[in-house]
Amino acid sequence: MANLKKRAFHKLRDSNEMLVSRLCYDHGDFFRKLYNSRCIRKRRIDEVVELTNQVFPNHIIETGTTMVERDCPDLKFELPVRHTNDNRLSNKLPQLKEDEWFYIDVKRVPGVMAYSLPKTPELAQRVYDFCIDNINKWAPIYHGDWNLDNIIVDGDKMTLIDFDYINTNTRQENIEKLDRKMKEIDQLGKLYENVQRSCN
Ligand SMILES: Nc1ncnc2c1ncn2[C@@H]1O[C@H](COP(=O)(O)OP(=O)(O)OP(=O)(O)O)[C@@H](O)[C@H]1O
Ligand SMILES: [Mg+2]
Repeated sequence: MANLKKRAFHKLRDSNEMLVSRLCYDHGDFFRKLYNSRCIRKRRIDEVVELTNQVFPNHIIETGTTMVERDCPDLKFELPVRHTNDNRLSNKLPQLKEDEWFYIDVKRVPGVMAYSLPKTPELAQRVYDFCIDNINKWAPIYHGDWNLDNIIVDGDKMTLIDFDYINTNTRQENIEKLDRKMKEIDQLGKLYENVQRSCN
């Protein structure tokens, strides 16, 4: 069953039909993340919500299902913050009519994305220390997607957003993922070689 759904997903992506799997809209004091029900199971959405509520209570405001056009007519006139997984969409409004979408509304976290900060050795160390602290603090739940655009910086404070990859896999698996992510981050990747690793 799982494989069938996965194959169907790839088939759609490979065909000429434009499939948008995820969207994120900025509504000012909250963000609405939309997930195409053809690409993700309700069970996974429920898991994301449950785990997120455990590590970041009150971050999620509301969840539900929508046909987008009918329930949220304003959305179709706005461009999403970023499109995921499909560069072909960058200049076009996505066609959302037919699909059913799951949505998760989350509170805006004030600050700037770590991605927008100068890529210095200090930033590499700070991001690494923050992620290791976070891993230790939330275990056995792991955020799982330690990208610079998922870390909001407000002065001394760093906060993780985007819980799409939240998981309860092993600590080792998540540490390895963090290591891969840090190496992948452009410009910061090289600096990461010199980071003082405390908890590996
Ligand atoms: N709660 C929030 N507070 C502040 N900014 C947010 C929040 N949620 C989303 N954003 C902004 O919207 C961007 C995209 O949101 P998010 O990271 O959740 O989606 P995504 O699935 O990673 O999209 P993509 O993979 O295309 O980046 C974030 O990088 C951030 O700039
Ligand atoms: Mg993100």
